[in-house]
Amino acid sequence: MKTELFNATTQKENGARHAGRILREGGLVAFPTETVYGLGANGFDGEAVKKIFEAKGRPSDNPLILHVASKSDARKLWSSVPDKARVLMDTFWPGPLSIVYEKSERIPYEVTAGLDTVAVRMPDHKTALAFLREAQVPVAAPSANPSGRPSPTTAKHVLDDLNGIVDVILDGGPCRVGLESTVLSLAGAPTILRPGAITREMLETVIGPVALAKSILSPLQEGEAVRSPGMKYKHYAPDAQVLVAGGDPKEAAQRIRRAYDLETADGKVCVIFASTQTQTFYGGRRYAIIGDRTAPETFCANLFAKLREYGAKADIIFTEALPEQELGLAYMNRLLRAAGFKTM
Ligand code: TXA
Ligand code: MG
Repeated sequence: MKTELFNATTQKENGARHAGRILREGGLVAFPTETVYGLGANGFDGEAVKKIFEAKGRPSDNPLILHVASKSDARKLWSSVPDKARVLMDTFWPGPLSIVYEKSERIPYEVTAGLDTVAVRMPDHKTALAFLREAQVPVAAPSANPSGRPSPTTAKHVLDDLNGIVDVILDGGPCRVGLESTVLSLAGAPTILRPGAITREMLETVIGPVALAKSILSPLQEGEAVRSPGMKYKHYAPDAQVLVAGGDPKEAAQRIRRAYDLETADGKVCVIFASTQTQTFYGGRRYAIIGDRTAPETFCANLFAKLREYGAKADIIFTEALPEQELGLAYMNRLLRAAGFKTM
């Protein structure tokens, strides 16, 4: 198969319409969102959805998020709409929040991997919304990466991974947020299954107390039940070993310097993900600036792209932790997984 690439700015009308048709006819379309690029299939067509699992090498028990162009399209996908979902949609949609609730009968088994709930979100991205409107069906879409690889935040990342496997790629430039959406379950007490840019603190101002699933910052224990199947698989893992240095940034930098020097003396290729605040601590060593510690969104926007860039070039990537609050929680959830929970 030849993958078609459309520039969403210069080929706007054409790209969205063509991609919508391909999707309705059972094809796979990669499209930009504000979080990461998605790999979409017709969410009403179980056979089309199966192709996503094949393309990604995704375990078949990991359910998908349905993407919609409007709130009214979302309502039809659940068995009913609880008050909390209504107010969350009014407050945060379009935006990086996926809401999990009891599914309607219409949704095929393949989308939810047999669960009786379904995750739905309306992305905050012009190209995504244009494409979703043209598709005229809910679009089932995981991140457009082979399972286990960092999620793609540019069309080039998608092309690197899925050229010849996906029918169409819509190029909408780099993703603004850079980490996947918050997944919030409203089936039972509100619980964050995966943290994202709509933070726990933001959700609580609107619907009151929100719990955090246990697996967010720690590995699952053997035999532990899991509410979000995605949490149990190895994630975002580059070839390099990622190590996370926590605590005060200055002390973290000291530990990183020491370990860096030992490892490079040993012949290992190392790189440090520094911040604008700490770069001067690393003089003479190889580092890449991942962001500004006073603006955690910059860390989030760059993490996956930097893991892709250095994941194959380095043996060891040293990284600084962020405080696990607000956006820092989402960042640490992804970073710790990339590190296989290895801290230093
Ligand atoms: O930002 C995003 O959410 C991106 C873009 C493309 O929209 N999509 C994305 O999809 O990250 P994916 O498949 O990579 O991650 C979906 C996560 C998985 O951890 C999955 O287990 C969980 O959501 N999930 C989906 N449906 C669920 C359900 N019914 N119950 C519990 N967890 C669910
Ligand atoms: Mg994913």
